[in-house]
Amino acid sequence: MTSPPPLAPSAAPHTAETVAVVGAGSIGIAWAVVFASAGVRVRMHETDVRVRDCALDEVASMLTDLSDAGLLSEAVVRVMTRVTISTTLEEAVDGADFVQECVIEDIEVKRDLFAQLDRLTERRVVLASSTSTIIASLFAEDLPGRERCLVVHPANPPYFLRVAEVVPAPFTSPDAIAKATELLTRVDITPIVLHREIEGFAFNRLQGAVLREAYRLVRDGVISPVDVDTLVREGLGLRWSVIGPFTTSELNTRGGLRRHAEVIGPVYARIGVERGSDNPWTTETIENVASHIEQRLPHATWEENVHERDRAMIRLASLLRHFDNPLAAPASVATSPM
Ligand SMILES: NC(=O)c1ccc[n+]([C@@H]2O[C@H](COP(=O)([O-])OP(=O)(O)OC[C@H]3O[C@@H](n4cnc5c(N)ncnc54)[C@H](O)[C@@H]3O)[C@@H](O)[C@H]2O)c1
Repeated sequence: MTSPPPLAPSAAPHTAETVAVVGAGSIGIAWAVVFASAGVRVRMHETDVRVRDCALDEVASMLTDLSDAGLLSEAVVRVMTRVTISTTLEEAVDGADFVQECVIEDIEVKRDLFAQLDRLTERRVVLASSTSTIIASLFAEDLPGRERCLVVHPANPPYFLRVAEVVPAPFTSPDAIAKATELLTRVDITPIVLHREIEGFAFNRLQGAVLREAYRLVRDGVISPVDVDTLVREGLGLRWSVIGPFTTSELNTRGGLRRHAEVIGPVYARIGVERGSDNPWTTETIENVASHIEQRLPHATWEENVHERDRAMIRLASLLRHFDNPLAAPASVATSPM
């Protein structure tokens, strides 16, 4: 293992200077890129020798792509001096302030690994799992050091989708949450802290809602799979890259989100019942959402807010004008039932 150069002392106390990344699959590589390119030392560990042998090259290759696109502030070789990979877990976590677990989505594997991490690291070290769906209570509850365990679920890949869910268990300490959000903020990832554990967290529940309906629409012969992708890619996805669904409701309807809920709410409620989910939006929830949206986008300036959205969309359209998307299939023109 090569020794990384010393880093400048951090201004804040308790900031993680060294992160152990356990598992060097797609998410482990991506976290290594995020942390190292933001000045944090990364010590990786991977059990599969073939994956381990390629890991550093993969990190360097992704850093090179980012550098070629002008997205890296240092030379790739300089960033790579901060990344090492170890054959043993002990070596990887030695001296680490924070562990980001990125092994396969298997509860037993995670349970076993967290037990090892709890034994091998000091209590000040935060143990975070990248898991997409499994709550920390299911793999850390019985550990003596469970108060420093939580989920930090990245969007994939985190060097482009710069947001991560922080999901504490009931036993996670405020200190561990603070350390996780501090580290994420420092490496330019926006932390979204969930108020309580829930399977699938919020990201995959939102994604799951879209996928559930997409599969049903295809199953029922309403639309082709290609056209589902096109509708989201060219429509909802493009809009959601500028404003989220609640802000969309606020700005798409004269009268704002409350009016939107009045007009469209019953339609969505009927579709919900048709889909076996009788869960209409309550007045209380609509009020809660509207008041939060209005703190950022006062209803009194609705016209200006709409113009602001349009200006943002126009800037995005201008950036995308010359983007020839190799993955975009043209929409299908149905001439016969699918
Ligand atoms: N792929 C995604 O879109 C995505 C997004 C967010 C979060 N996640 C989560 O991130 C985690 C990793 O996902 P991935 O897509 O990188 O999986 P992956 O299968 O690509 O990589 C997992 C790696 O972990 C290694 N591994 C298994 N057990 C290990 C151990 N005990 N110690 C060290 N290494 C070990 C495997 O050899 C493999 O290389 C999962 O929990 C997943 O749910 C995935």
